[in-house]
Amino acid sequence: MLIRACGIRKSFRTGGRKVEVLKGCSLCIGERETVVLFGESGCGKTTLGKVLLMLEKPDAGEVFYRDVELTGLRNLGHLRRKLQLIPQNPGEALDPRWKIYDSLAEPLRVHKLADNREEELEMVMSFAEMVGLKEEHLHRRPAEVSGGELQRVAIARALILEPEFVVCDEPTSMLDVSVQAAIVRMLMDFQKKLGISYLFITHDFSLAKAVADRMYVMGGGIVVKELRKEELQGLPPESLKLHKLLTASLRP
Ligand SMILES: Nc1ncnc2c1ncn2[C@@H]1O[C@H](COP(=O)(O)OP(=O)(O)OP(=O)(O)O)[C@@H](O)[C@H]1O
Ligand SMILES: [Mg+2]
Repeated sequence: MLIRACGIRKSFRTGGRKVEVLKGCSLCIGERETVVLFGESGCGKTTLGKVLLMLEKPDAGEVFYRDVELTGLRNLGHLRRKLQLIPQNPGEALDPRWKIYDSLAEPLRVHKLADNREEELEMVMSFAEMVGLKEEHLHRRPAEVSGGELQRVAIARALILEPEFVVCDEPTSMLDVSVQAAIVRMLMDFQKKLGISYLFITHDFSLAKAVADRMYVMGGGIVVKELRKEELQGLPPESLKLHKLLTASLRP
């Protein structure tokens, strides 16, 4: 297994109240696999995705990347580039003051992946082209490109490091169906080319069905069910009904 999480717990303190969001979540993701994390809004999908990448520290439980226990490390160091997030809100990954070019070049600079400015330019241009951005976009700031273009920038920024594991957090939720399909196709092409594993977070059941090798359903702060591809294909398309069905036993 590439990624393995056991018994993840996480609570947040807001307005003096402690809310337990993750109540012991366990899952695993294999090499080159696309695993969907499915569940209704607010159930803790983003939180769990961030815990797997050590962008949120869990209160309890362990996360392993291959044989390395990430939860035991003070910081990820060189492993950071292997584990990347395409955030739910693409703006989250980008500094509004920077030109798109610099947002794409920065990870290369941080991880010292380009020997000189020429090589940096070449890498940025090739990834921009792969995600369908034009050269003119690179000179603009986030506020000066469309939502779909911004989503492409966030994808390029995560993939330019050639990671092994990427959490795609609703990477197409703000887009219309045709752009959504193009971006999902692009992510799948990258997977073939670079050999990436994905945790694909969504609450869109037809999208889940289209991309998943396996699916975990979340509800009530835990992973309530695991579905294999064959099981998934046999289910009806009414996502909400499905989710209610799967989590019904947890509700009082
Ligand atoms: N930093 C935080 N402080 C306090 N509460 C938080 C924080 N982050 C998340 N939460 C709460 O934890 C719960 C789970 O949030 P999370 O973003 O993980 O859900 P989600 O399943 O990704 O939802 P969505 O499908 O809407 O994106 C929500 O009730 C949210 O309000
Ligand atoms: Mg979310």
